[in-house]
Amino acid sequence: MADAGSPATTPQRSQECSPPGPKGLPVIGHLLEIRRDPLGFFSTCSERYGNIVSLRFGTWPALLLSGPSDVETVLVKNHHGFKKNTFFWRHVTAIFGKGLLTSEGEFWHRQRRLAAPAFAGQRLASYGAIMVRHTSRVVERWKPDAARDFHADMMGLTLGIAAKALFDSEVEEDVAAMDKAVNALTDQIAVRFARPFVIPDVVPLPGHIRYRRALRRVESVVQRIIRERRSDRQDKGDLLSMLMQARDENGDPMPDRQLRDEAVTLLLAGHETTALALSWTVYLLGQHPDVEARLSAEIEAVLGSRAVSVEDLPRLRFTDQVVTEAMRLYPPAWAIGREAVEDCEIGGYPVPAGTTILMSPWVIHRHQRYFDEPAKFQPDRWSGDLARQLPRFAYLPFGGGPRICIGNRFATMEAVLILATVTQRFRLHLLREREVVPFPSITLRPKGGIWVKPVARRREVHGQASKADVWISPSLK
Ligand code: HEM
Repeated sequence: MADAGSPATTPQRSQECSPPGPKGLPVIGHLLEIRRDPLGFFSTCSERYGNIVSLRFGTWPALLLSGPSDVETVLVKNHHGFKKNTFFWRHVTAIFGKGLLTSEGEFWHRQRRLAAPAFAGQRLASYGAIMVRHTSRVVERWKPDAARDFHADMMGLTLGIAAKALFDSEVEEDVAAMDKAVNALTDQIAVRFARPFVIPDVVPLPGHIRYRRALRRVESVVQRIIRERRSDRQDKGDLLSMLMQARDENGDPMPDRQLRDEAVTLLLAGHETTALALSWTVYLLGQHPDVEARLSAEIEAVLGSRAVSVEDLPRLRFTDQVVTEAMRLYPPAWAIGREAVEDCEIGGYPVPAGTTILMSPWVIHRHQRYFDEPAKFQPDRWSGDLARQLPRFAYLPFGGGPRICIGNRFATMEAVLILATVTQRFRLHLLREREVVPFPSITLRPKGGIWVKPVARRREVHGQASKADVWISPSLK
């Protein structure tokens, strides 16, 4: 499948012209449309103006890219020419500090190298048992036929898994409070994204007070985890131990502030996105009983009454396709941003330093040039070699290039293991009277949650997770 790239849609480019785009309002640019309906606005812009669209966030110049080859230019080929510190990220530095998601340059590179072993090989595979154990504990508490918010369940579950796997910490008693705090943070992030200017956190607006309180709550959990480990002094071989044992060129350990930034980043980046992938999967399955029946049949055939383990992953092909397809239609990270650090060129257009670059998996994943009947939920589309045929970056739920999601394999393994464990015991009946509205904040959340009625399928599930090497989803190869 060819990536037609930007030339097909922007035929008259020259060094002088700027890409086409809608005319914005003075001062606020396109912020009103973005605030009202970002998903619809960006999709319409891409359809109407092509692969490179000129926009303005307030007075900031921005480009919306939806051609895979232009995305590749930014994320891979010329990645040194772009940084993360965009219009968006400067609103949330108090949350992530200088953690992996937001740091830059040599500092980021060093931190990434330190964290990488926690997300690879046998260590990654060893998280499978934690994922299955935590999920079983959660679903065992579900009352058959009683309505519940599946998204809230997944938020708590994935937070508990990330804390246990990466920091060997049980946060069960903190989950409800953390969950509320994360909601308050993301609500405030949404408000801030739609503002044309930055209002410092110290200004006592009600939203800022809630934001600061929520941040304190998240920090207190993280600081407790770090404190416990310091007093314990044991090398648990997990991510936290790796970060704590690291020494810089002077032999000094990582300062507490940096440990805090990395831990907050990994807990937040690592749990909400995976919870969202599962929530949107269940939302789509609820609307497609035929797909749900095939999913359940595969799980029954592969597992019977045995608990799933990482060894089963290569045989849970359809389960993996369901998750892959759900992340195509509802990518948890629906937009990826960069800022040009120097004057450059994208797709033949001159791009001045300081321009914000926006790449939206939501828009790209729904483009009919790459996907037949793109609005349809068809996990079978991934059964052949679509993943290999697609242009690189026509499917990018985890971004790409050097800044690709460090947790991509962790997340796909987790999503498949959780989905298999839930489906084995319950059929989740979607409560249609509760409307589900996608709410694009920093992530793509279901406003009001995903309400389901769990109908019991199998009560007894036995077995142990194993120590196999982790299998990699074909969509990630
Ligand atoms: C379905 C689940 C997930 C999705 C859709 C997702 C998506 C993404 C995307 C798109 C990026 C790149 C952002 C950019 O280029 O600006 C990213 C980066 C990142 N993700 Fe994930 N993520 C998921 C799960 C996880 C998990 C489980 C973890 C950790 C436990 C994690 C930790 C991170 C970190 C630390 C980064 C920054 C990496 C760097 O810049 O070096 N993510 N994620």
